Amino acid sequence: MRAVIVYESMFGATRQVAEAISEGLGGPDVARVVPVQEATPEVLATADLLVVGGPTHVHGMARPRSRRAAVEMTERPGKRLKMEPGAAGPGLREWFDQMSATYLPAAAAFDTKVGGPWLFTGRASHRIARLLKKHGARPIARPRSFLIAHDEPAPGQLDAARTWGQVLRAAVGAHQAVA
Ligand SMILES: Cc1cc2nc3c(=O)[nH]c(=O)nc-3n(C[C@H](O)[C@H](O)[C@H](O)COP(=O)(O)O)c2cc1C
Repeated sequence: MRAVIVYESMFGATRQVAEAISEGLGGPDVARVVPVQEATPEVLATADLLVVGGPTHVHGMARPRSRRAAVEMTERPGKRLKMEPGAAGPGLREWFDQMSATYLPAAAAFDTKVGGPWLFTGRASHRIARLLKKHGARPIARPRSFLIAHDEPAPGQLDAARTWGQVLRAAVGAHQAVA
């Protein structure tokens, strides 16, 4: 099984979650972690499983305006946030917009968001899941949110991401055994 985990991240929290999911899936030999800017069709073609995640911004997926707001946050006095390379975009939204593939493999979506019911916070993962499906992916898990506190993955969330990676691996294995 080969997995590719594509992520968008402003301050690094979603990248950390992506890396933890990769560990759960079996580590770098099995699961490659790729920032969205590097997720070319050639990279996707290597995957039996595609996992896609990004930060929740203004109740949904990041857009150019929310990315600019994120950049401005790093400039506030007292904020020690550092932008990820490529954080200014293009991000997942644009990646899906220009995607020509109409067939993607088994897939799962995740997001990072602040704590609280999604009705109040929103969640990017449901839209990501819809876009994956639109491009022909076969969902193998429900969209999943991981929580952020003080701009970092909240305590226990990286462990939860590793466990989710194991669950995804088992789900792909079960399908491959049947197919
Ligand atoms: C402009 C902006 C808007 C945000 N809006 C939301 C939101 O509506 N709901 C939410 O749960 N978190 C929101 N957040 C918090 C982000 O989800 C959080 O910064 C992100 O998960 C951190 O991941 P990253 O470091 O990978 O960017 C927002 C953050 C920014 C910068």
